[in-house]
Amino acid sequence: MMRKKLAIVAWLAVWAAAALSAVSCRAKETRGHLKLSDFDTLALKPPMGWNSWNKFGCDVDEEMVRRMAEAMVQSGMAAAGYEYVVIDDCWQTARDDEGNIIAGPERFPSGIKALADAVHSLGLKFGIYSCAGDKTCEGRPGSRGYEEKDARQYAAWGVDYLKYDWCHTEGLQADPAYKKMRAALEAAGRPIVFSICEWGRSKPWLWARGVGHLWRTTGDIKDKWESVLTLLDLQVGLEEYAGPGGWNDPDMLEVGNGGMTSDEYRAHFSLWCILAAPLMAGNDLRTMSRETAFILTNPDVIAVNQDALGVQGRRFSKEDDREIWVKPLADGSLAVALFNRGQSKARMSVSWAEMKIETSTCYVRDLWKRKELGRFLSGYSADVPSHAVVLVKVKPSNIID
Ligand code: GLA
Repeated sequence: MMRKKLAIVAWLAVWAAAALSAVSCRAKETRGHLKLSDFDTLALKPPMGWNSWNKFGCDVDEEMVRRMAEAMVQSGMAAAGYEYVVIDDCWQTARDDEGNIIAGPERFPSGIKALADAVHSLGLKFGIYSCAGDKTCEGRPGSRGYEEKDARQYAAWGVDYLKYDWCHTEGLQADPAYKKMRAALEAAGRPIVFSICEWGRSKPWLWARGVGHLWRTTGDIKDKWESVLTLLDLQVGLEEYAGPGGWNDPDMLEVGNGGMTSDEYRAHFSLWCILAAPLMAGNDLRTMSRETAFILTNPDVIAVNQDALGVQGRRFSKEDDREIWVKPLADGSLAVALFNRGQSKARMSVSWAEMKIETSTCYVRDLWKRKELGRFLSGYSADVPSHAVVLVKVKPSNIID
């Protein structure tokens, strides 16, 4: 067997080790009172899937969700790694006399179990939404006071993923409220990815590891460039809290929803990959353009997001509108995004020395073009269009596969 010699540069080793040891220390602290279960291995990489909210809002029904699951397979999204099909708010309309949650009979005439079965039959996983408060954000019945009942119902339906929101939670504290639902899910006995949607208000990155598998760090994304920039800036400083098993969530993707240019969507997607963010597509998979499919399914870019090291990338430098974002990868390479937020084209450069790479030569691969660019002495420069990224993988030449 070929031995893999990893000549990882000093700062990278220190950075990765610090991140991983922080993760494992916190894991020991917060898991002490929870039984170790299959839950702990559900999100060793950032979850990937599709969610109804960004495109459809409350306009959800079983037919649309079935077609979306089929499209996830037919479009190549499933092959690219997308797995969860999640219905967001508005599927639920009432509770029956015994307190059981009811899916709207007009929009979900076959019921949620049949829909989950249909999604499973395609080899995909099924997700649903509720809220820690009395009502969901759209005023549907929430889970407050019904946590165990709802968790048992989800398990019986075959739910694999629960997004749990934070509207109408007067008098509640986030940490115990989410722990309550996590315990209810575990007691119900079906491994369910638990997506904490508390918008970052109580700094969930400080308490959510071991409670949820992903936690929103911000308010809602909009299909606008300014929104991507705002959410991106809010991730700076949160890097050490992400890692295998629990991820910072800067909200779902808007790629393909029409409000941004193609370059802007590529930048949005590239940066979410550098951030090791959950990748929940939010567009109509049935009708997406080739360009949208190309962005969402690029294997080189997704590999950055799903890299086994599980380290969230960070903003390495910022000079006005020109930013360099870097994510260390398991093989000792670095994913590097040259990101131009500005209004005009910019020449951007990175030098191996400033990134503390100890060798003078690196191999560079352009991840959007999916092309090896060759060996580069001392650094790499590129022209980056306005509101765009150039995303490369930089492999120090002293790493031998
Ligand atoms: C909140 C969440 C959104 C979405 C809506 C649904 O705003 O942050 O992601 O789930 O509720 O009402």
